[in-house]
Amino acid sequence: MGLLDVKDVNKRFGGLQALGDVNLSVAENSVHAIIGPNGAGKSTLLNCLVGKLIPDTGSVMFAGRSVLGRKPYEINQMGISRVFQTPEIFGDLSVFENMMIPLFAKRDGAFRMHAFEGVTQERGLIGEAEKMLDEVDMLDKRELHAGSLSRGDKRRLEMAMCLIQRPKLLLLDEPTAGMARADTNNTIELLKTIKNKRDITMCIIEHDMHVVFSLADRITVLAQGTPLVEDVPENIKGHPKVKEAYLGEAA
Ligand SMILES: Nc1ncnc2c1ncn2[C@@H]1O[C@H](COP(=O)(O)OP(=O)(O)O)[C@@H](O)[C@H]1O
Ligand SMILES: [Mg+2]
Repeated sequence: MGLLDVKDVNKRFGGLQALGDVNLSVAENSVHAIIGPNGAGKSTLLNCLVGKLIPDTGSVMFAGRSVLGRKPYEINQMGISRVFQTPEIFGDLSVFENMMIPLFAKRDGAFRMHAFEGVTQERGLIGEAEKMLDEVDMLDKRELHAGSLSRGDKRRLEMAMCLIQRPKLLLLDEPTAGMARADTNNTIELLKTIKNKRDITMCIIEHDMHVVFSLADRITVLAQGTPLVEDVPENIKGHPKVKEAYLGEAA
């Protein structure tokens, strides 16, 4: 049994079978990548893991407990955090204020802007936020408006906002999508640091093979909603089924 176990998950959107009999086990403290062409069902699968979608059939167990039927914030409290395909940061707040949001939400149960001001003054929380910013090498950008950051730094901030919640499982949906090569490489380095420093399991959906092969312990290839093959990176490289999955796409 893994930290995360997906069993026989199916999800239809009308006539379209977005996920068909998905089985997946993510081992604790590993990095598990899910790759596959556009429309393969990667985001749908991730949405089923965080309570944004409910599978038609099947089970999703996290640390021995079912996540199905739980609200996204409950799943978050269980120890699953997600980095979205588009960074979910507050552009008009400073980097530091963004860091305070998850700390505040954790304590208060929900984020309410009017009660937010006072919390940014609490010294214990300030220290926690600064420590996390330092860990992702963004302490010098503390006072910048989050909206003015580069795409790579927005991603870095968003990851810090996830990590400060001390998740057991971090889900990343295409963390390097739309990034320049330099930002992609920075993100790879950041994820490697996180992986080595922390007691954390990661599940990464990714299009960029360079990112996948740099980070993953295991890789699942998804095509048309169904896992084609799951193996260690060495065996996925050049695997005929991977080529089959990406046929017609520049992989
Ligand atoms: N909410 C939805 N309603 C209808 N169809 C959807 C919805 N979300 C995704 N799909 C379809 O399900 C399939 C899988 O989508 P998605 O999980 O986003 O793929 P990926 O992330 O691998 O690119 C696609 O054909 C997509 O068009
Ligand atoms: Mg997607």
